[in-house]
Amino acid sequence: MNRTISIAGATEVLRPPTDGLPYLRHDRAGDMRLDPSPIAIADGRIAGFQRDDDAAVRIDATGCAVIPGLVDCHTHLPFAGWRAEEYELKVTGVAYEEIARRGGGIASSARAFARASDEEILGQARSLVADMLTCGTTAVEGKTGYGLSVAAEMRAVRLGRELGADRVTGLFAHAVPDGYEADAWMDEVDALAAGCDVDALDIYVESVAFANEHLERLGAIAAREGVALRAHVEQFNANRSVPVALAAGARSVDHLACLHPDDIAPLAGAECAAVLLPGAELMSAERTPPARELVDAGAICALATDCNPGTSPIVSLPLIVGLAVRRYGWTALEALLACTLNAAWVLDLSSELGSLEVGKRADLVLLDGPISHVPYRFGRNPVCVVVRSGEVAWVRPDAVWRVAA
Ligand code: NIG
Ligand code: FE
Repeated sequence: MNRTISIAGATEVLRPPTDGLPYLRHDRAGDMRLDPSPIAIADGRIAGFQRDDDAAVRIDATGCAVIPGLVDCHTHLPFAGWRAEEYELKVTGVAYEEIARRGGGIASSARAFARASDEEILGQARSLVADMLTCGTTAVEGKTGYGLSVAAEMRAVRLGRELGADRVTGLFAHAVPDGYEADAWMDEVDALAAGCDVDALDIYVESVAFANEHLERLGAIAAREGVALRAHVEQFNANRSVPVALAAGARSVDHLACLHPDDIAPLAGAECAAVLLPGAELMSAERTPPARELVDAGAICALATDCNPGTSPIVSLPLIVGLAVRRYGWTALEALLACTLNAAWVLDLSSELGSLEVGKRADLVLLDGPISHVPYRFGRNPVCVVVRSGEVAWVRPDAVWRVAA
């Protein structure tokens, strides 16, 4: 079978300043190129930036921008059900921590996870991944964390693999399960990390969850297991967890709404990504992280949906781009870098994904206008064609004319 695709006519094609970069520090986001160019795809890979008039599939990208497939590097898939009733409590003034103390929050999603069958959980997660694809997401990370028991966390790892998430993160330290002290649960986390097939370990550091000493301990566990350390930090309070995470060799620190000003420079100088989650910030009325400062200081920034039933029931990375541009004072290029190459680096996938380079997996998204329209036409989905692994994976009904086979 001839598995060639040619894309021609695009006015903007988003490419890195040079090939082979594992990530691009954000003070260099403006070096990304947007020149028009045709794209040739063969056997699932980007074959070159030239015309291929004999390709089996020809895509007319007139008036379009072509960007790499978006990488959602922080989601909580798979989970069971939703928590809309909590959202109403939140917007009418009840704090997230208070909802958690009343037995809501993560514990309530854990009860739903326990009640739901594998098929129900996977059905919901697959439908969310399908929604994400229509918004341009071609690679997704998922986390455990709604198990809250050893057996249920092991089930969550298995379901994450069955879902086919590109990366599965063990967020075994998400909330302290009933009947445990945090230290005793960390002993179970240690055993789970040793016994489960996960790509990274994650922890939620907050007054209602774990403390910096547990983050330090998880760093040692991650180093022993040879997996990446990630951490939910500084979401609702400033706990000064970033220096602890950096000392522990974290791959990413995520949320950062309450990042301390003294931690900006060390984070920006480290080989550790600042994963910002403006959807959770908006939906949970969090503070706004010093995102402009992080960019100017040369941090490796990433953006993600944080898709979860509590703080961010959002699937659309174009929406997240719009939020980041407005809330952070970022350019569209800065926001797109954060959910392509740098997001792929967070997942240790940037040699394969995240930028349009010869040899990389052919994951591409056609936008039906210039990239500047992604944040500007806020809330509208600009994605009209998605190619994943060299196959046309989704075409918006009004763009069917663009694809000729
Ligand atoms: O990333 N903050 C901790 N974890 C999730 C929310 C979990 C939940 O409320 O279900 C987050 O925001
Ligand atoms: Fe999260």
